[in-house]
Amino acid sequence: MAKNFLANLRTNSLIRDERIFMANIIVIGMQWGDEGKGKIIDLLTEFAQVVVRFQGGNNAGHTVVVGQQKVILHLIPSGALYPQKSCVIGNGVVVDPQVLLAEVDELQKLGYFRADDQLLLSEDAHLIMPYHRRIDVARERMKGEGKIGTTGRGIGPAYEDKVAREGIRVGDLVREKLFRKKLEARLAVKNHYLETCLHEKGFDLEEIFQEYSGYGERLKKYVSDISVFIDEQIREGRHILLEGAQGTHLDIDHGTYPFVTSSNTVAGGACTGAGIGPTKITEVIGVSKAYTTRVGGGPFPTELTDEVGERIRERGKEFGATTGRPRRCGWLDIPLLLDAIRLNGLTGIALTKMDVLSEFDAIKICTAYQFRNKRYTRVPSAVEDLEECEPLYEEIPGWKQELRDIRHFRDLPPKAQAYVRRVEELTATEVMVVSVGERREETILRRNPFDRGSRPPQKA
Ligand code: IMP
Repeated sequence: MAKNFLANLRTNSLIRDERIFMANIIVIGMQWGDEGKGKIIDLLTEFAQVVVRFQGGNNAGHTVVVGQQKVILHLIPSGALYPQKSCVIGNGVVVDPQVLLAEVDELQKLGYFRADDQLLLSEDAHLIMPYHRRIDVARERMKGEGKIGTTGRGIGPAYEDKVAREGIRVGDLVREKLFRKKLEARLAVKNHYLETCLHEKGFDLEEIFQEYSGYGERLKKYVSDISVFIDEQIREGRHILLEGAQGTHLDIDHGTYPFVTSSNTVAGGACTGAGIGPTKITEVIGVSKAYTTRVGGGPFPTELTDEVGERIRERGKEFGATTGRPRRCGWLDIPLLLDAIRLNGLTGIALTKMDVLSEFDAIKICTAYQFRNKRYTRVPSAVEDLEECEPLYEEIPGWKQELRDIRHFRDLPPKAQAYVRRVEELTATEVMVVSVGERREETILRRNPFDRGSRPPQKA
């Protein structure tokens, strides 16, 4: 016992030892989701051994292009495309088992994801049940004009049950008797709610039980204590990449409430959603498009409802990866980014889709908001106030040149370099990555966070 205790102490101090290079990196969206995190994560995965999803569910959609293949992942971390990388679905994720298994099948069909131990699914992750999806859609319908514009995947209702302590977890699903008991109890309440309050049909216990027991049987081999797994990996000197879904301004606490998702999308959510201590995180990288998009309802100060917005949508292929909905498009919004830098403690920015702006003679950046005759550089807490904010723009000359083949920052047209430098000045944050196309190789990696000693000294 005493021996074990001492051995543990020694391993703990080893981790704190400067000589052991620890690189555990969170990648987070700085806007309202769809920033191109999938591509950045896919790129960085090469240097990590474990990739972890820690919040959200199949409301997310990451499009990754490898060679001639386009793969859209909703639940499985992008690491799936590299053999030998562990893909972890953390306790903070809400899991629709049907979607997860369909994704496993699809990946295997494409030749990826052959070894069973490549996927680890937290036993503490909550399940999305069929009644969650029905409640999500019915409630949005009832809200009419005031709807949030959810993805209809049952995300909100599943998180509600988690917080209400009425959720069913992955660990329950693989214990048949327990699962049946819990399902029976929940279904009595959910059917009553669906039928009486939402005027919807309820569900049959046997049907759900049969369907979900089948999922449990197939998922059993992936179920693990992922906090322990991640800890072991760190002790063995492996690098962890924590993959955020959605974006900072969709965070349940810090986003444009109520037009938000139901989880903590900010970096802090990575610790709770993966069971990893904050002292183990070495960098947090924020991903932002070179402009802004949003899907669903809610305020969007720099939104362009004119032909310019249309051109961005067309050129940037701005249609939802999950729902196919056209995304609302607008210019880059610095107050949004400044909030994201503060809320996530960002150490760098990955600026994506620079190539989309190549066709414009002039590009605008919103440097601040005007609200009731005052200038603000932060996002107000109340959406009613944000709706009143007018963007204050500065104009930057466009570079009018295709960027896709450029691999070094110094080779970018000077006006494109000036755009990136202006973003750095306005945010006081380093742009570490510039993405100039959708393919993995169409990227300028100015600093690799997985390189030992890559991080410059930080200012307070
Ligand atoms: P929910 O997450 O389905 O409940 O949707 C809540 C809000 O978050 C809606 O405005 C959705 O459009 C938005 N949302 C959810 N997931 C994503 C995403 O991955 N990208 C962009 N927006 C998202």
